Amino acid sequence: MKKTILLGAVFVAASLATPALAGGGAGGESAGNLNSALLVSNCVVCHGQGGDSQGHTPSIDGLNKTQMLNALTEFKSGARKGTIMGRIAPGYTDAQLEAIVNEITGN
Ligand code: HEC
Repeated sequence: MKKTILLGAVFVAASLATPALAGGGAGGESAGNLNSALLVSNCVVCHGQGGDSQGHTPSIDGLNKTQMLNALTEFKSGARKGTIMGRIAPGYTDAQLEAIVNEITGN
């Protein structure tokens, strides 16, 4: 019984540490301290590795930083319509979108 409680404490401590590792801790969110590689893994599913899509989804590897950030901001606000991106972009904070764009465009 004692062992279980101890393990529980370790688990709680590990959970508390996780947000700091992911960069989303109380220290304030900025594009620089987010795990951008992890965030971009969500985009790769549809847009392909490096943004080079092999399917029907548009490739995004030809867009520069400004074009990509504009597209995502417009999808987020609803100014730009789409089938899917209008539901994906609002799920990210502006700082996360910037981190994603920086990661994809290599800036
Ligand atoms: C479920 C599939 C899917 C996922 C996941 C996805 N996208 Fe998209 N994306 C699309 C589709 C489809 C379009 C075409 C517009 C539309 O229909 O929404 C698109 C369009 C775009 C465009 C505009 C391309 C252009 O040339 O105008 C950008 C930029 C973009 N996505 C970036 C991203 C980023 C960054 C992520 C990860 C946060 C992401 N997408 C995740 C399917 C996806």
